[in-house]
Amino acid sequence: MNTKEEILNILIRNNGYVSGEEISESLHISRTAVWKVINTLRNGGYAIESVTNRGYKLVSCPDRITPEEIALGLKTKLLANEIYCYDLIDSTNEEAKRKALAGAPDGSLFVTEQQSGGKGRLGRSWTSPAGQGLWFTILLRSSLLPSQVASITLLAGLAVCRAVRKATGCAAMIKWPNDIVIGSKKICGILTEMAAEMDRIEYVAVGIGVNVNNENFPEELSAKATSLRLESGSFVRRVPLLQEILLEFETVLNDYPLHPESLLNEYKTQCVSLNRRVGFTRANQKMTGVAEDISPSGELIVRSDDGVLYPVYSGEVTVQGIYGE
Ligand code: BTN
Repeated sequence: MNTKEEILNILIRNNGYVSGEEISESLHISRTAVWKVINTLRNGGYAIESVTNRGYKLVSCPDRITPEEIALGLKTKLLANEIYCYDLIDSTNEEAKRKALAGAPDGSLFVTEQQSGGKGRLGRSWTSPAGQGLWFTILLRSSLLPSQVASITLLAGLAVCRAVRKATGCAAMIKWPNDIVIGSKKICGILTEMAAEMDRIEYVAVGIGVNVNNENFPEELSAKATSLRLESGSFVRRVPLLQEILLEFETVLNDYPLHPESLLNEYKTQCVSLNRRVGFTRANQKMTGVAEDISPSGELIVRSDDGVLYPVYSGEVTVQGIYGE
């Protein structure tokens, strides 16, 4: 932790006034140094009151995503050990891939306030307006097998679903493979990209976009997309939600090798696609049927209208009653 993080930590913990002397003694720095850091925090949007003989009191934090706030109180061991934070970038997935080539470590987090070229699945774009959502990518690169990538994608969806429920109380569900929906509308999409050799993955970039405080959407999205603010009726702070997602993702990644069945069962209970009529494409042919199950390796098992069971690996699957893509 650097001095800025430590002082912020002290102010948050104290939940009232704390004297400059107390801070300077506990951190072994001068009171002038404390005062300078307090001013830096104020310039960064933290409202800090100061009263003679009482000291400093944190009144409010900005809803800005900074490495200091992310690191503060983060309970993960690996994820976000290295944080790359931007105001504006083309795409956090693209940045993660560039930095992966330059040697960024396992678990690195790439997060931005805004994306100019946000990417969605199947070559689509992803609307990523400034300050309204969480647009981030987690880089994974330790001893992964190509066969594990589909599971990682599903696990990321499960982690976001758990975190959204915990942080907002909203009844988030998963649309296979890893869209998160509330009711019939989407609040989060996940784009997983990887670089691999025949039998070894060099890295996986798990890109997650969550609509957090958006109050409206472009015309073409308004019937399909929603945000946590619109669904919960209140403003949602982004950093605590990001911390919760990171912790849940790390937890499921660690638990998966030990308890794959229990995570698959949990995924199934949260999956809106199951037992619904779905549309899918097989060998360039559009088909319909009912989604009956999810296989241990993550395929959606669909019984087509002519009674045949098909495993669906990826691509677009429409679900009756849920927005179309
Ligand atoms: C989808 O549902 O189509 C996937 C959307 C993924 C969006 C996220 S936002 C952060 C990361 N960077 C990107 O360019 N895309 C992903």
